[in-house]
Amino acid sequence: MLLSAGIALNRGNRRAWTTLARKVHSKGSISPIAPGAAAAAAAAALQQQQQQQGNRAPGILFDIDGVLIRGNTVLNEAKEAFQMLSKRHLLKNIPYMFVTNGGGTTEAHKAHQLSKWLHVPVSEKQVVLSHTPLRMYEQYFNKTVLLIGQGPLKEIAASYGFQKTLDLDDMRKAFPLMDIVNMKVRKQLKSHPPTPIPVPPVEAIFVMHDPLEWESCLQVLIDLLISKDGVPGTLDSKQHIPIIFSNADFLWMAEHPQPRFGQGAFRLCLEALYKELTGRDLLYTQLGKPFGVTYDYAEKLLNEQAQKLGYDGLSYFYMVGDNPRSDVRGANSRQNGRSVLVRTGVFSPHLDNDPSDPAHFVVPHVRDAVQLVMRHFDDGLHHHGGSDELHAHFVQKSRTRSEK
Ligand code: G3P
Ligand code: MG
Repeated sequence: MLLSAGIALNRGNRRAWTTLARKVHSKGSISPIAPGAAAAAAAAALQQQQQQQGNRAPGILFDIDGVLIRGNTVLNEAKEAFQMLSKRHLLKNIPYMFVTNGGGTTEAHKAHQLSKWLHVPVSEKQVVLSHTPLRMYEQYFNKTVLLIGQGPLKEIAASYGFQKTLDLDDMRKAFPLMDIVNMKVRKQLKSHPPTPIPVPPVEAIFVMHDPLEWESCLQVLIDLLISKDGVPGTLDSKQHIPIIFSNADFLWMAEHPQPRFGQGAFRLCLEALYKELTGRDLLYTQLGKPFGVTYDYAEKLLNEQAQKLGYDGLSYFYMVGDNPRSDVRGANSRQNGRSVLVRTGVFSPHLDNDPSDPAHFVVPHVRDAVQLVMRHFDDGLHHHGGSDELHAHFVQKSRTRSEK
């Protein structure tokens, strides 16, 4: 159960564990996890600031998978779109960012990749990965956190401020009898019983990127989520360890003609196993698009960029994305968001718009999305957010700059 949507414990089914539940029922539970108080205050201040000041610039958020790339293939329309933006000097005049539910790398490395793909300079401050908002969870900086997913997660987590991190291999070495799905491992245990390398109790779990070896991850996570205070092999009738997932995408688009399972599919499997085993709903926190914590973070950076460009701040933003459930739903949930849905990714090419998360605009690809945005700037088209004279001022400003 998504914690930010509140807690609903299912007491209905009586599985093996509930007998245990009756024994130790009273032990505590965990509460919704929010970013540190500072971050929440900053988000509120930003909203207020946007309402008050006049001289603000519109911004653009670009999704990555299904919009700029398909797996390892950079879409031509993406290169052309950024050529157009740089020709119009817009890249120097408006705040723009890349907000992806992808991850497993550092923001700096992703910025470097984007610069190479699009032939425009991209700084790491212009990149929000699925796990970037973890930076705000300072309450875990000194706690022992298990990191799940592919890529240099310990390095990434350390760059955010997390001092004590573990990964799947650390857990396996500490509890060699835990992950025994693999027959070879079982044989190994018999022929060469390993000496466990102890680890401290796990105090939180971060699923930071698409996991590999789902069977092992599922087993280890379940053992921790049913444990007594983060020690596999122990049991408790309540979930004590908070778990944060960075990306809710059930599907995403790579080169294959149909969408691929994403981190959200893994979460669904974990939830189903936890429910089957305990009769309870798994309590978790979700980051990534469409959730507020990620859009708050992206808007904060867009606003800072706008101020660096000499404006008082951000007025409204376009979100150019391929996934109605993440890109469109997220932008539509923001008072100053405008959703632009492209047909080069998850969104089915046969529909005019998405029935449950209809976008403000639907276009074939990102080049057309950029043309639409530029036309709005030129025609002073506003659907909501920002003021007409601001827009006229902005167009004038970018014209004078481009004439320089
Ligand atoms: O794993 C990445 C995928 O879920 C989607 O990424 O860039 O389309 O938000 P993106
Ligand atoms: Mg996408």
